[in-house]
Amino acid sequence: MLDHPTHIETPDEDAPLVTFTGNRGLDHEEALIFEIGRPDTTGVDIDAPGTSQTRLGGLERAEPIGLPGLSEPETMRHYVRLSRKNYSIDAGLYPLGSCTMKHNPRLNEKLARLEGFADIHPLQPQSTIPGALELMQELAHWLTTLTNMSAVAMSPKAGAHGELCGLMAIKSAIAARGEAATRTVVLIPQSAHGTNPASAALLGFSVRAIPAGADGVVHPDAIRAALGPDVAAIMLTNPNTCGLFERDIVEIARLVHEAGGYFYCDGANFNAIAGVARPGDFGVDAMHINLHKTFSTPHGGGGPGAGPVVLSERLAPFAPVPFLRRDGDALTLVEHTEGTQSFGRLTAFHGQMGMFTRALSYMLAHGADGVAQASRDAVLSANYVRASLRDVMTQPFGDRICMHEALFDDAWLKGTGVSTLDFAKAMIDEGYHPMTIYFPLVAHGAMLIEPTESESKASVDLFIATLRDLASSALKGERSRFINAPRTTPRRRVDETLAARKPVLRWRPAAEDV
Ligand SMILES: Cc1ncc(COP(=O)(O)O)c(C=O)c1O
Repeated sequence: MLDHPTHIETPDEDAPLVTFTGNRGLDHEEALIFEIGRPDTTGVDIDAPGTSQTRLGGLERAEPIGLPGLSEPETMRHYVRLSRKNYSIDAGLYPLGSCTMKHNPRLNEKLARLEGFADIHPLQPQSTIPGALELMQELAHWLTTLTNMSAVAMSPKAGAHGELCGLMAIKSAIAARGEAATRTVVLIPQSAHGTNPASAALLGFSVRAIPAGADGVVHPDAIRAALGPDVAAIMLTNPNTCGLFERDIVEIARLVHEAGGYFYCDGANFNAIAGVARPGDFGVDAMHINLHKTFSTPHGGGGPGAGPVVLSERLAPFAPVPFLRRDGDALTLVEHTEGTQSFGRLTAFHGQMGMFTRALSYMLAHGADGVAQASRDAVLSANYVRASLRDVMTQPFGDRICMHEALFDDAWLKGTGVSTLDFAKAMIDEGYHPMTIYFPLVAHGAMLIEPTESESKASVDLFIATLRDLASSALKGERSRFINAPRTTPRRRVDETLAARKPVLRWRPAAEDV
């Protein structure tokens, strides 16, 4: 239960407000449900089950299970209070670079809830879901059209899963050429997202790191130096994780192809170019598209995501099952690999219908001009932030136009005693979720800001003004505003290393907690 303080001291300016209840204004302290619930309480009034013959053969639980019970109003209050501790894109600007926290339109939600899409079962006979298959086909059509690619694998559940899918297609294509034993290396730039080397390693490839140039992009010379007969593929993010467009991408693709390798493009940042440039025109062989980024479906903590992978003509035959095939008017999902070169099945079912519906809803609501406008506005917003802060914060690769996200480093904080982490924590006191920090690794003390196109100018202006105020405070030596931050949150700084290394995932009654 809550420990009430025995007396309340007048807090000094830097300390958090301590109250008798633990509540602070309308921010309620909330204990775990195990701490406030009572096993003998229930929120429902139903008859005890009639006696029935047990078939457990003596394995019945001897003791009550001890689950916490609450009345209905207590339950409501518990979960509403918890939900109010969430920060979300619906509550405020969420500048998390590389994650594209853009608005999730409510129209998407409305359409995803239509019974014909929401209530179907993956084991239902195909003949009963022609509408759902048409929807998948239409989404697939627009994904391949926007990217100028030949085919798309719809079943991957997220970007990282898409990387695995694309690399599995590449591995199969290499095996079909009889080169599985020799082509075992994947080239990956040092600025890449951690999932890139992880996906390659998971499939038994070894990784050869490519250095970025002083201007933050990969140079053809670095690729030439790394290429050889052992190279299976390159994984290159474009726009890259520094928010810069890889201007030599066509030449890099040509070099990789000439050396017999495949080109995997990490399409996490497709939202900067969708409707404006087509990855197929760069020479890409496979690319995942995070529907939760570019096409505004909700981010789902590894849960209900979707990361379709578009494939070039060379890789299309190796796509996983199931895939859609149209015969005349009839659409069917090909579920078996017989008679195909498919690398097999990646997931149990066909992909995330809810995400497909939302993504198609976004595309159709925006139209071709709207999708391109969204990309252009995302780039405009990021450059507005960059240009508005460049006189106080430093940019690691010089004063260059960026794509959809603006990257700063911590050189400007030198000598202030304030770190990137402290700066990010102080943003929380100002009501903002921090930007992505310490990623990409190629920028020291990185701060990666992605405002997205869905913020109004007024919202971005207030964000910029807040960052300018914080920056001038840091430069004036007002260190306590940073090192003691956050002061306004239910919890202050947690030991993130301890939490990651020794997570406490199970609640135990206090008596057991020794
Ligand atoms: C550049 C890049 N690649 C890959 C991923 C992985 O995508 P997902 O989180 O959908 O698995 C991310 C995610 O943020 C990313 O930013």
